[in-house]
Amino acid sequence: MPREIATLNRRGFLAATGLAGAGVVAGTPRASAAPPAAPEPLITDVQDWARTLGDGVQARPYGSPSQFEKHVVRRDVEWLTASRESSVNFTPLHELDGIITPSGLCFERHHGGIAEIDPAKHRLMINGLVDKPMVFTLDDLKRFPGRVNRAYFLECAANSGMEWRGAQLNGCQFTHGMVHNVWYSGIPLKSLLDEAGLRTNAKWLLAEGADSSGMTRSIPLDKALKDCLVVWTMNGEMLRPEQGYPLRLVVPGWEGNMWVKWLRRIEVGDQPWHHREETSKYTDLLADGRSRRFTFIMDAKSVVTNPSPQAPLRHKGPNVLTGLAWSGRGAIKRVDVSLDGGRNWRTARIDGPVMPLSLTRFYVDFDWNGQELMIQSRAMDETGYVQPTKDELRRVRGTNSIYHNNGIQTWLVRPNGETENVEVG
Ligand code: MTE
Ligand code: CO
Repeated sequence: MPREIATLNRRGFLAATGLAGAGVVAGTPRASAAPPAAPEPLITDVQDWARTLGDGVQARPYGSPSQFEKHVVRRDVEWLTASRESSVNFTPLHELDGIITPSGLCFERHHGGIAEIDPAKHRLMINGLVDKPMVFTLDDLKRFPGRVNRAYFLECAANSGMEWRGAQLNGCQFTHGMVHNVWYSGIPLKSLLDEAGLRTNAKWLLAEGADSSGMTRSIPLDKALKDCLVVWTMNGEMLRPEQGYPLRLVVPGWEGNMWVKWLRRIEVGDQPWHHREETSKYTDLLADGRSRRFTFIMDAKSVVTNPSPQAPLRHKGPNVLTGLAWSGRGAIKRVDVSLDGGRNWRTARIDGPVMPLSLTRFYVDFDWNGQELMIQSRAMDETGYVQPTKDELRRVRGTNSIYHNNGIQTWLVRPNGETENVEVG
């Protein structure tokens, strides 16, 4: 906590620096910090960075984070990494605030590595049950009327998938970090399909990537016409290669694998395809041997990002708990937080925009006196759907699948502040 203003004032340093105003934070309870025994050199001494001129304006033509933020990176999990090209890394959710994921920190999931595509040589074809098969260049799309600009979350169907049988990975980066939330701009897929002219028997699409995995997914036409986008920007600039440069499909609220990157072709058909991604993957095997197929929608989910195992509690007294909530069915309506393993709940304060199919940020300001905590969050969306407990989920879905685990997460905070992934039974 900041040092007491009164103490600093007595030594007469604050009035001159203009920090006095910044120290008087309105209203919130604060812990009393002991008055410093000696003058604080970080206030009284001239620091290195003030002795010489800093870098000029062209020293960093494309900016990057401070050297002191080097630890804020996407990370992978060794035993989940069979090969680097067909693997995943995770968004450091515990290091972020707000709702937008910085482009360089968006988790990556590739089935065949990152395709490095020359945009001048990239084409998007629309074929199948259309009147006029079409081929678009990127320039054609940039001149196409009706461009839109939207923020959506993307969650991999396997996010939290390692947690079905019990608490396993120690950090929200690893348990929940296969999600990102990005501003996109592009063209509604409907506009491109209208241009090609859909035949009356059109019912399904096959979206295909230009990467070496030749990733394809079947998408119902209704969804494509409702809100899917073909995009080329993320967070205001061109897509990153990792996210599908130069073209990607956006399938709001639906599982991440359908958001085909390096999008090169959309075929229109009258029934779903049964390709690799529909058969060997993205089908959920139930306890009784039956399978759930085409489980497209990502149900409401939330996680407390701070405190969490990678971001333990370090101070007694006032603390800020924060986290993220999202739903593939619409906007988040409410988030409740429990500090005692689900016995008592309080409603979290949501701040920032609450947009449908986008991450939503919540906060709870609380006092910690060093007692053990079992922190949970529970999201509710505008359809009235309430995020289930892991046990409720297992009763319906068993533990055979790795997909669609949106159960309530528990973090145990020990009296020394260390925080662990646990389950309450
Ligand atoms: N598209 C192509 N062409 N190739 C891929 O390997 N991976 C899919 C999807 N689109 C993939 C793809 C999966 S499983 C997910 S979860 C998302 O992209 C991940 O998107 P991201 O890398 O932007 O996080
Ligand atoms: Co995925």
